[in-house]
Amino acid sequence: MKPVARETVLITGASSGLGLELARCFAADGSGLILVARNTAALEKLAEELRRLHEIPVQVITADLSLKESPQYVFEQAGRAGQVVDVVVNNAGFGLHGAFAELPLARQLEIVQVNVSALVALTGLFLPGMMERRRGGVFNVGSVAGFLPGPGMAVYFASKAFVQSFSEALHEELRGTGISVFNLCPGATETNFSQVARGHRKSERPVKRMSAPEVVAAGYRAFRSGKCFKVTGAVNTVLTQLPRLLPRAAVRRAVGRFNQ
Ligand SMILES: NC(=O)c1ccc[n+]([C@@H]2O[C@H](COP(=O)([O-])OP(=O)(O)OC[C@H]3O[C@@H](n4cnc5c(N)ncnc54)[C@H](OP(=O)(O)O)[C@@H]3O)[C@@H](O)[C@H]2O)c1
Repeated sequence: MKPVARETVLITGASSGLGLELARCFAADGSGLILVARNTAALEKLAEELRRLHEIPVQVITADLSLKESPQYVFEQAGRAGQVVDVVVNNAGFGLHGAFAELPLARQLEIVQVNVSALVALTGLFLPGMMERRRGGVFNVGSVAGFLPGPGMAVYFASKAFVQSFSEALHEELRGTGISVFNLCPGATETNFSQVARGHRKSERPVKRMSAPEVVAAGYRAFRSGKCFKVTGAVNTVLTQLPRLLPRAAVRRAVGRFNQ
């Protein structure tokens, strides 16, 4: 018999880290999945695991979201089998450590394309269907970085500030429509993020990180209960409050020192 799911959830960046854990979490709840990233082998491996464990339909779409045309391609591939996407999880993202003037501009523009433009495009493409059905969800993955200026990772922090602002605004615009918009704001988490951001150079500073399952479990609960956003972890919650507690100059210097 063909597996039937309670809803279909499209997750970008599902090949590792938080996206992979989010896929496991939605699957355990009986959702069918569409997994998107560049690493097809990792997506297929996860799809196989989740089909076997939960008897849910799982589709894999290979796409590079740093390319402008990819969100439209993902939208078309997802709709191929008459599939209705109920929830879009905009999780794919990356950052780069270093001074803006010293990092390659093309790579920094890719951060904007993946973290910001693709997120807006996928939300805009899937939202009209949700509006028609008067139900659905947009689950974004922002960051504690979205609350702070980030010297040493300037474009990444700014991209997450966009995600925070955009998510909160959409949450408000769509209140009462049956569509929930949510932003998960993790701090340092054990994933491949740091290796990618440092070009696979090891950080000299030992940083305490939350585990990906821990972050995702808290985010998933908050999303299902209709929250607007969730900062995970007590220390991270304090970090998001720094701009209220300290002069802005002190905050940006502290973050700059931390990012060095
Ligand atoms: N880990 C942290 O400390 C932390 C903290 C706060 C927020 N976040 C956010 O959490 C999200 C997930 O990151 P993670 O921590 O799980 O890191 P990760 O393990 O490096 O995962 C990043 C995911 O994004 C995908 N991705 C990256 N570039 C892509 C592209 N051009 N096209 C399509 N997919 C792409 C990767 O897939 P492929 O490589 O297969 O394409 C991968 O699945 C990001 O938005 C990140 O900013 C992370």
